[in-house]
Amino acid sequence: MNASKCFFLTAALTALPLGSVCEAQTVTPQACEQSIVNLKAQGRYLWLPIEDKAPEGKVQVIVNGALQMEQNVRIAREGVDYYVGIDLQPYQQGGVAKVCVQNVPKGSIGLSKIVQNDDVNYELKEEAYRPTYHHTPVRGWMNDPNGMFYQDGTWHLYYQYNPYGSLWGNMHWGHSTSTDLIHWQHQPVALAPDVWGTMFSGSCIVDHQNTTGFGKGAVVAMYTASRPTPFGGDVQAQCLAYSLDGGMTFTKYEGNPVLMAEDKDFRDPNMFWNEDIKAWNLILAVGQEMRLYSSPDLKNWTEESRFGSGLGGHGGVWECPDLMKVQVEGSKESKWVLLCNINPGGPFGGSATQYFVGDFDGHTFTVDDVARYQDGKALWMDYGKDHYATVSWSNAPEGRRTVIAWMSNWEYANDVPTRQFRSANSIARDVFLYRVGKECYLGSRPAKEYDGKGLDETYKVKGSTTIHLTNEAGDDFVITYDQKAMTLTCDRTKCGDTSFSQSFPAVTVAPVHRKLTSLRVFIDECSVEVFGNNGEVVLTNLVFPKSKLK
Ligand code: FRU
Repeated sequence: MNASKCFFLTAALTALPLGSVCEAQTVTPQACEQSIVNLKAQGRYLWLPIEDKAPEGKVQVIVNGALQMEQNVRIAREGVDYYVGIDLQPYQQGGVAKVCVQNVPKGSIGLSKIVQNDDVNYELKEEAYRPTYHHTPVRGWMNDPNGMFYQDGTWHLYYQYNPYGSLWGNMHWGHSTSTDLIHWQHQPVALAPDVWGTMFSGSCIVDHQNTTGFGKGAVVAMYTASRPTPFGGDVQAQCLAYSLDGGMTFTKYEGNPVLMAEDKDFRDPNMFWNEDIKAWNLILAVGQEMRLYSSPDLKNWTEESRFGSGLGGHGGVWECPDLMKVQVEGSKESKWVLLCNINPGGPFGGSATQYFVGDFDGHTFTVDDVARYQDGKALWMDYGKDHYATVSWSNAPEGRRTVIAWMSNWEYANDVPTRQFRSANSIARDVFLYRVGKECYLGSRPAKEYDGKGLDETYKVKGSTTIHLTNEAGDDFVITYDQKAMTLTCDRTKCGDTSFSQSFPAVTVAPVHRKLTSLRVFIDECSVEVFGNNGEVVLTNLVFPKSKLK
């Protein structure tokens, strides 16, 4: 290896307990192409200047000759859009050897602007479209909510996360916690890519009875590890990780993966304890169907059945399933609800969440009324354009079924006009079933944590109603309830910046099953969530107005 071409964090290492390990390295198969300059003697973070339009290069951390991490990073070539940080602390324990940059041409502006310091807020800018009470990552890209569980008063939220850029890639599980679903604390990354691949979506449970042997009360995560093959496509395998400190840090199970197959799009495991069969169940999305499994210990899984052929929307891949028992309001009856996120194929293009109502005996899920889902018919949980990857919290208090959705759409998620972060989650919602005649519908109302906090505007509705959300710049977001047509509509076509994607300007329309008497509207900088009859009908839409909407 050509040492002169390699970047050595020598200055930093002299200040570290284990001293320098830079000498005599023969490390990666590929020699380091670029040196990083501008380093100080100490500093926990290495800040990398990013330009979204730059092609991906590679940044590697190498300790004692071993490659510790390698990420695809769009180091700025011509202009810096924002900075992302590598937390060097985990590598400083054993002595940081070096950080190499590959596939970034010499002379790229970013190479001269890399900075090492202790300032976690380095170059963090306020952004107009950063929501105030919706969850967002501080920096970087976020998609699906993952592995949520509740324990001892804390709501844990993990999420699909690229810490190294505001575009999709390098999937990690980010982690945030909240005690009120309004204020979010940002925690260290929970799961990082490994030899099995990057960390795709999954779920967590609390193992109260130590069925896994990981420990009583262990938090167990199951996620999809996704790895490209040399022949194209990805291999997707289901893996376990467990936490003995309440979800803060995870150890990957040495017996991984626990579930593999040759199927394409084999992912997003969602597991839950089923008291009816006194065993674990797992629902997994595979292509355009769901597979159901059971297990005594989360490690050994038996396939029970498959669901979905010929039922519901099939305009795209089925992803991020959930299966839960939900009470029918005003009765003692409970039904099983299967959440099935689909992309594309949503009612207004791109991604959306459909649902099925029926029964589940621990082995097979059957719908109540096949006719509701035949010939491509589907029931949608939310009729906005920005409600995807909806899944529920495990172990939620008071038997609640509390869900959250990623507030974006794969049609334009990578293009929305934010910079150093991309995407927010919806507010959390408690789901419920309600009957109109013989039909059973899924509703989702704002979690009670938002009640009385002044976050929403409530309107009494008496017949057809139009509400304009506007600002001094003349942006106009229109909500229309048409009592004759029994529809609730959101029109964002004349509201702020819609130029970044042809798919963004949209009028989304929801069927209303029962006359509306109220509308609850949550506006938070770049989103409008509309709840008819407090959750019987819901529309979630992003919006990028020139100033705040009122
Ligand atoms: C859904 C999804 C999942 C996958 C994840 C990857 O948005 O495609 O199916 O696990 O995103 O980030």
